[in-house]
Amino acid sequence: MDRPAQSPEEVRGAFRGAAGQLASGVALVITMAEGAPHAATASSGVVASADPPLLAVFVSVGNRMHGALGAEGAFTANLLRHDDHGLARRFANPARATGWAGFAGVDLIGRDASPPILTHAAAWFDCRLRQVVAMGDHACVVGEVVACGRDPDAAPLLYYRGRFHGLGPPVAPSPWSALDRSDLVADW
Ligand SMILES: Cc1cc2nc3c(=O)[nH]c(=O)nc-3n(C[C@H](O)[C@H](O)[C@H](O)COP(=O)(O)O)c2cc1C
Repeated sequence: MDRPAQSPEEVRGAFRGAAGQLASGVALVITMAEGAPHAATASSGVVASADPPLLAVFVSVGNRMHGALGAEGAFTANLLRHDDHGLARRFANPARATGWAGFAGVDLIGRDASPPILTHAAAWFDCRLRQVVAMGDHACVVGEVVACGRDPDAAPLLYYRGRFHGLGPPVAPSPWSALDRSDLVADW
């Protein structure tokens, strides 16, 4: 493939499309803001470390979540199930209701002053804020996972090229996966 040198302007133009090729899971990040939960959709969550267990999520500096996370010091990251694209859309809408009103009809496990957990999450991570690193127009928010869980039968919601997707079948041929479990990374 021909890879011509690109000017900074050309890189910026191509970056959005190239970055869109990165398929990712979609989560609701929930923190507390003035005594009520505040949630926003995020697809940037990644495992930052296995030991200690650290999760990183990248939050746009202009978003309310950025200020709330810095003030609160705790958050939950709740991986959505494949059929929860309605929740993903709802908590990405800047005009949504704030506070408890924003969660009408959403099943939560409330925990007094701590951020709630989504009852039907495919996986959930209860995090204590460890570090916030500013980088460009986003901040890398690193949480130390103090508790987590999953529903092994729940398929995750994915985001790819600006659209929501479900998971397709495995692409490794079945003799390979039957004989060699290395396609399962640490049994995840
Ligand atoms: C699929 C999807 C993924 C998103 N991922 C992120 C993300 O990783 N980080 C982020 O800052 N915003 C992300 N957003 C945008 C926020 O959800 C949106 O700006 C939201 O209104 C922010 O709310 P807030 O201002 O209350 O924090 C995403 C939106 C969608 C639809």
